[in-house]
Amino acid sequence: MILYRVKTISEYKFSNLEIGALSAERQERLIKIKSDDEKLRVALSEILVREVAKEILGISDHDIFFATGDGGKPFIVGHPDFHYNVSHSGKFVVCAYGDSPVGVDIQEKRPQDMRVAKRYFSIDEFKQLEKIDDDTDQRDRFYELWTKKEAYAKLQGISVFHTLGVSLPEGSEICFNPLDIHPHYSGHTCVRS
Ligand SMILES: CC(C)(COP(=O)(O)OP(=O)(O)OC[C@H]1O[C@@H](n2cnc3c(N)ncnc32)[C@H](O)[C@@H]1OP(=O)(O)O)[C@@H](O)C(=O)NCCC(=O)NCCS
Repeated sequence: MILYRVKTISEYKFSNLEIGALSAERQERLIKIKSDDEKLRVALSEILVREVAKEILGISDHDIFFATGDGGKPFIVGHPDFHYNVSHSGKFVVCAYGDSPVGVDIQEKRPQDMRVAKRYFSIDEFKQLEKIDDDTDQRDRFYELWTKKEAYAKLQGISVFHTLGVSLPEGSEICFNPLDIHPHYSGHTCVRS
């Protein structure tokens, strides 16, 4: 079973966060980030994963070491049955977790960019999207496809750039679940069924 947990960045102040408890890599990364919101998203991303891991695995911060798979997907060393994935956008950070591999993506819904759709979506997906007359419906479909594609790529631990132009898988092998976080955001988790 896959669960998820969300943090809203507006509830936190960067200066109050315990940055010293984070991995050295994340601390270095944080130093280079200028935007206050991005700093919060990137810090809260690891804080959220640690919170979940400590609770589910019954371990402490000192026992948490991160590594990445071949395609760059992060995991916690020594706990092969604990699976998680993180996504952050706008005001939210989400961590999906469970006992099987998972991918998650959330996106703040801004006006849809059809050039992005043409580049990332398959020809069929793009044609279907173009046919949607209502602008809000088209934007919703754009973000549905986007977050499904990202979540699917992240399930596999690869960048979405490897799935350029490829249609989403059909059938029962892959299962997507929508995340209802906020009306202005779209999100999905993706697992193998
Ligand atoms: C690396 C990638 C996963 C980043 O995706 P993103 O949408 O920019 O960012 P998200 O917030 O959803 O995900 C970031 C998290 O994914 C995780 N992640 C990084 N590489 C990953 C990989 N190869 N597989 C799975 N998860 C990965 C990390 O936990 C990261 O969190 P962190 O930044 O706090 O370390 C990748 O898919 C990418 O580069 N996407 C480009 C975005 C784009 O142009 N999309 C077009 C839409 S169709």
